[in-house]
Amino acid sequence: MKALTVRPETADSAAVLDLDLDPIDAADVEVETLLVGICGTDVEIVSGAYGTAPEGSDVLVLGHESLGRVVRAPEGSGFAAGDLVVPMVRWPDPVPCQPCAAGEWDMCRNGLYTEHGIAGRHGFARERYGVPAHRLVPVPAALGDLGVLVEPTSVVAKAWQHIDYFAGRATWTPRTVLVTGAGPIGLLAAMIGVQKGLEVHVLDTVTDGPKPALVADLGATYHSGGLDSVAFMPDITIECTGYGPLILEVLGKTGRDGITCLTGVSTAGRSIPIDPGALNRGIVLENDVVFGSVNANRKHYEAAVAALVAADRAWLGRLISRRVPLADFNDALHRTPEDVKVVVQIASE
Ligand code: BGC
Repeated sequence: MKALTVRPETADSAAVLDLDLDPIDAADVEVETLLVGICGTDVEIVSGAYGTAPEGSDVLVLGHESLGRVVRAPEGSGFAAGDLVVPMVRWPDPVPCQPCAAGEWDMCRNGLYTEHGIAGRHGFARERYGVPAHRLVPVPAALGDLGVLVEPTSVVAKAWQHIDYFAGRATWTPRTVLVTGAGPIGLLAAMIGVQKGLEVHVLDTVTDGPKPALVADLGATYHSGGLDSVAFMPDITIECTGYGPLILEVLGKTGRDGITCLTGVSTAGRSIPIDPGALNRGIVLENDVVFGSVNANRKHYEAAVAALVAADRAWLGRLISRRVPLADFNDALHRTPEDVKVVVQIASE
């Protein structure tokens, strides 16, 4: 079957190949892939910086953000032909560690987890796949193609859940949020912040393109330029750029008892001078929390579906800035300033 593949650790090896994959197990749900979203992780994998193929394969099928339609479901699986579904990305490690054993594979302690389209498992940029029913999240038909946003939304739903844990450590309630980066992750994080009734600000460098209006239409405030264009100390910051110099600045810019969540996977290799004493002093004397957040488990996928159902469909539709046929995957991998989320169309219709 046709699949979008890379040779891991080989730059610019992305190609559509006709792969002879294992037949789909009758006990699994058979799913036809409709759409695959492209994110920064895919671009990194294509650059050769990230990603591992499944054991015994030279290639890795890309695609961890996806929307599919059930073709065949075993009886008692809870699914039926025609259902829209999103497959979850990460599988628990085989040991399993304590969180993985409890279904919290996003908090895996030994790093032996696998991830579809990223680490040791083929992704969903292929015509069909089979997975056990417990790996699928149902998507309400009313969401339609917007279901392709479930996976990136699950990542921010997890970040928000952990922010809420930290916010619960004292009696005061956070009111202001700064999101750095108005890409899909930043915009979806801002969307959930607005849904929580918080005052949301989004910072990005661009002044044109779709981002300023997307932020304004959420009911949030857009700031362009550097962090100094944000004239207040936020209670919560969600950093979504992964850009080193900004990360350091952000750590020094929360109000007292501030919470900073880092979500961007940055490239290593850049060094800038820092004063660790001043950084530590600021964090300690203000009870700041700084934490990283990655991936999501089933409860975050379910929270993501609920957040998308509660959101304005027309606004969500504007996040999908381009749909590209599989044959033109190269166009999808090269983002333009007009892009927010680019999706690759896998099913032919
Ligand atoms: C995915 C996560 C994954 C992470 C690290 C992200 O792009 O959305 O599910 O855990 O990459 O591989």
